[in-house]
Amino acid sequence: MQVKVAKSAGFCFGVQRAVDTVYEQVEKGMRPIYTYGPIIHNEVVVQDLEEKGVQVLNSQEELEGLTEGTVIIRSHGVGKEIYDLIQRKGLHCVDATCPFVKKIHRTVERESQAGKQIIIIGNDKHPEVEGIKGWCSTPAVVLESPEQAENFKMLKAVPLCVVSQTTFNYKKFQDLVEILDKKRYDRSVVNTICNATEERQAEARQIAGEVDAMIVIGGSHSSNTQKLFEICRNECKNTYYIQTVHDLNLGVLRSTGLIGITAGASTPKKIIEEVQTRCLN
Ligand code: F3S
Repeated sequence: MQVKVAKSAGFCFGVQRAVDTVYEQVEKGMRPIYTYGPIIHNEVVVQDLEEKGVQVLNSQEELEGLTEGTVIIRSHGVGKEIYDLIQRKGLHCVDATCPFVKKIHRTVERESQAGKQIIIIGNDKHPEVEGIKGWCSTPAVVLESPEQAENFKMLKAVPLCVVSQTTFNYKKFQDLVEILDKKRYDRSVVNTICNATEERQAEARQIAGEVDAMIVIGGSHSSNTQKLFEICRNECKNTYYIQTVHDLNLGVLRSTGLIGITAGASTPKKIIEEVQTRCLN
């Protein structure tokens, strides 16, 4: 049996960096350590960190209640008010915001201070969007659907600056920008979409097209894993979805020549390696 593992399987660069940052702080012996929100949507990782003494803060109130320790900001980033609060409380801040998200913070801060109206294309409830809003010196407008873009009206004649949530779908982003364009506002558009998800999907499609069987690893509630499974299934009918190495049915894979492996965005490298090793032994 031969195995081909997708290079883009699992954590994207920003999430890997954030998770590594937490483990580094643990190694350094910094105590107590908190992450502002779970560092990643993977229970195994969060629990492992918990056992090493890392606690998750679930709200601003919980942060307010701290008197000492290190607070780690996850890859989604947070608004300026959270940094200010950490500083006011005299806590140590370790910033693991993804550099691509940080770049959006700097853009909206600069452009809103220059008097522009910031438009964020994304999901208003998503923590990343919350964080971006928190860097605008005047209230930002969040647009997610074509209807919202159609209904959007500028009350003052100021130029617009349009940015996007990093994980927003590019086609939908373009559609919304087109609707805004019809209104003929003075605007600048900064495409801040990160292509990590698209790259993972494209590579999964390519590998699934070359192999005899494909394994997709990921959490049961992970929508991006589900999407990867569908993509692979379209290319290779022997596609199997598993959560960990324990779900692997080697019986059905025995007679297969080449096996491909990919994994959703919140699957740790360790799980991917375990599956790979199991297939090879
Ligand atoms: Fe990941 Fe950063 Fe892109 S967190 S999805 S690499 S914006």
